[in-house]
Amino acid sequence: MRKVSFAEFGGPDVLRLVDAEEPHAGPGRIRIAVRAAGVNPVDWRIREGQILKAHPIELPSGVGLDASGVVDEIGEGVEGVEVGDHVFGEGSSTYAEFAVLSAWARMPEGLTFEEAAGYPSVVETALRIIREVGVRSGQTLLVSGASGGVGSAVLQIARDRGITVIGTAGAANQDYLRSLGALATTYGEGWVERVRRLGRVDAALDLAGSGVIPELVELTGDPQKVVSIADLGAPEFGVRFSGVAGSVPEALAEAVGLISRGRLHIPVEKSYPLAEAAAAHIDSQAGHTRGRRVMVV
Ligand SMILES: NC(=O)c1ccc[n+]([C@@H]2O[C@H](COP(=O)([O-])OP(=O)(O)OC[C@H]3O[C@@H](n4cnc5c(N)ncnc54)[C@H](OP(=O)(O)O)[C@@H]3O)[C@@H](O)[C@H]2O)c1
Repeated sequence: MRKVSFAEFGGPDVLRLVDAEEPHAGPGRIRIAVRAAGVNPVDWRIREGQILKAHPIELPSGVGLDASGVVDEIGEGVEGVEVGDHVFGEGSSTYAEFAVLSAWARMPEGLTFEEAAGYPSVVETALRIIREVGVRSGQTLLVSGASGGVGSAVLQIARDRGITVIGTAGAANQDYLRSLGALATTYGEGWVERVRRLGRVDAALDLAGSGVIPELVELTGDPQKVVSIADLGAPEFGVRFSGVAGSVPEALAEAVGLISRGRLHIPVEKSYPLAEAAAAHIDSQAGHTRGRRVMVV
C-alpha cells in the first residue's frame, strides 16, 4: 500500500509518499481502508520532533491520527462493528491507504468521509477543555482563536449547552463565528477592550497560543477560569495547560449525537491527495484554517 512517511524530523519536505507493508488489526483494534484523514496541527508538531514526550515515535514514522473509512479487518475481542461499516476515529499513520484505529464510531447519516475525518481529535479536545474550564449554562466563555478546528467544535458544543461564547478570529472569520452562534471580534491591538464591550467573561480558553494568557486572566479575574491548549508557558501565570487526551470513544459517541441532531458541523477548508501531504502541512502551519483540512485517499 501507499502511505505518507518521514525518516527524519524536519520541515514539510521530509514527507514522502512510500510503498509500505499493510498494517493489521491486533487485539482490540480494527483496520480501515482509509477514505480520508484529518490534518491536525499535532501532525506537523510530531513531524518537527516538537512533542516527543507526549507522542514518542520511532523513525521512519507514518503521519496522522484521525481518519474515516471502511472497516476491512476486525481484531480479536472487538464487538459491535462489522466489515464494510463506515467509521471515523483515531489511530496511527492514517495518511495511508490502510490504517489501524484504536477508537472509532459508526459515521452518522449524511456525513461524507471527508467531513468525518475532521472530527475525532477536535471533538475530544473541545469536550475536554470545556469540562476542565468548568463553564456552565448561562455563563459566558471567551475563546481566543475560535475559527480553527477546535474552536469550531467548542463554539457549537457551548451553544448546545446554553453557554454564551465570545470568540476572537481574523477579520475574514467574523461572520463564520457568528454563524456558529458566537459574539465575534478580531484579535490584535485593542482586542481586550472590544471583548469587554461584548460582555462580562466567566471563563476563557486559549486555542491560538498567541501570548494572551495574562489578558485572559485579567478578563476572567481568576487563573483557574482559564485553560490553554497551545501555550506551554500558561502555568507561569497559574493557568492550566491541557495536554492529556480524554476518552476518545466517549467523545465520538457525543459527536455522533450532536451531528445527528444538526448541532455540530466542522467544515472542510480544503482536501489534498496523499501525494500533497507537504502542501497540507504548509497550509495548516500557516495557522489560519477554518474548520479542518483533510487528506483524501
Ligand atoms: N493540547 C492539546 O491537547 C491540543 C489538542 C488539539 C490542538 N492543540 C493545539 O491547539 C491549537 C489549535 O488547534 P486547531 O486544530 O484548532 O488549529 P487550527 O485549526 O490550525 O486553527 C488555528 C486558528 O488560530 C487562529 N489564529 C491565528 N492567529 C491568531 C491570533 N493571533 N489570535 C487568535 N487566533 C489566531 C486562526 O484564526 P484566523 O484564521 O481567523 O486568523 C485559526 O482559525 C494548535 O496549536 C494545536 O497544536 C492542542
